[in-house]
Parts: sequence; C-alpha cells; structure tokens
Amino acid sequence: MFDVDSLVSDCQTALADPDPQRTVREILLRTLRKPGPVADALAGNEGGINVVFNSPALTVLNVIWAPKMKLLPHDHRMWAVIGIYGGAEDNTLYRRGAERIEPAGGRLLHDSDVLALGTDAIHSVANPERRFTGAIHVYGGDFVNQPRSQWDPDTLLEQPFDFEQIRKAFAAANEEWARQAGQDLDEATF
Ligand SMILES: [Fe+2]
Repeated sequence: MFDVDSLVSDCQTALADPDPQRTVREILLRTLRKPGPVADALAGNEGGINVVFNSPALTVLNVIWAPKMKLLPHDHRMWAVIGIYGGAEDNTLYRRGAERIEPAGGRLLHDSDVLALGTDAIHSVANPERRFTGAIHVYGGDFVNQPRSQWDPDTLLEQPFDFEQIRKAFAAANEEWARQAGQDLDEATF
C-alpha cells in the first residue's frame, strides 16, 4: 500500500533529523522499491508540476513529465531528492563558469531510482521516452516561493526563474504529445 499523506508525514518527521536530506533519500528509496502502488496513486497522462505539500520548510511535488519534454537548466537553492515511480528522467548537471554554466555530468533515472541534489545544484531535465514519466520531488524548503534562477538553454546565461515560462513549457509539451499521439492514431487507423 502507498499513501501519499504518510509519505508527507514521514518527510515532515525527517526534518527534525540531523541530516534530513539523507533521511528523505532513504524514505524515497524504501517507498519506491515497489513503484507500482505509487504509480497507481500518482501517475497521470498530462505533464505538470502538482504540489502535494508546501510549507516554508518542506515541499513535495508529483512531477509528471510529458513524453520527450525538456526543461531548461535551473537551480533550487535548497536540498532536493528526486525519485522515479514510472518512466525515465534524464538529469544533466551544470557547474557555474565565469559567465555561464557548463555541463558537468548527469544521471539517467529509471523506476525506483533516487537522486539527491545539493543546495547549489543546477540541473536540466528531459524525459527521453515516448510515455509520461512520474517522479516524486521533495525539497527542503519552500520550493514554490523561493526566488531562484534559470538559464537560457542555448546561451547558458543566468536569468531570474520564471514559473510562468515553466508552466508554458509543460503546456507546449502536452500539446505536442497530443498532436503526435493523434498522428499515431491516424496512421494506425488509416
Ligand atoms: Fe529541478
């Protein structure tokens, strides 16, 4: 059984630990050992950032990536733990250079994988698959209201984070997938 309220409550309890990020990582590893029940509860077929819980000290998101979508580089300015319950999430990590950021490795996550990101982490995310990816993202702070940065994906120059632009990126990815799915259906039908 998976219960999202229990997950949130476990994460809240973890905040009292000396190393809450480490504890949250263990919680997500344990929760996602069997991703099926989590997917049953949280999976969706529309890309978006769904806020499960938000407080000044903790944010829990159910992030659904549209097929093939890419999200530009951004930071969080708080620790984060990402766990996958269905699909794949390709994380590219960056380090700050003199003027712009530079790619610095990455990690492709699949079902049950968990990635911990430090306070200074900068990453971009892509869904490499032709299906929706579902992920639980836990942040050690107020992810919704924290002022932070994003980087232009072409120039890799820093800009203020723009939630509206992110919302539009999800909407565009959903539209693109609906268009492609419609084409696939046409091809299959005719
Ligand atoms: Fe992120």
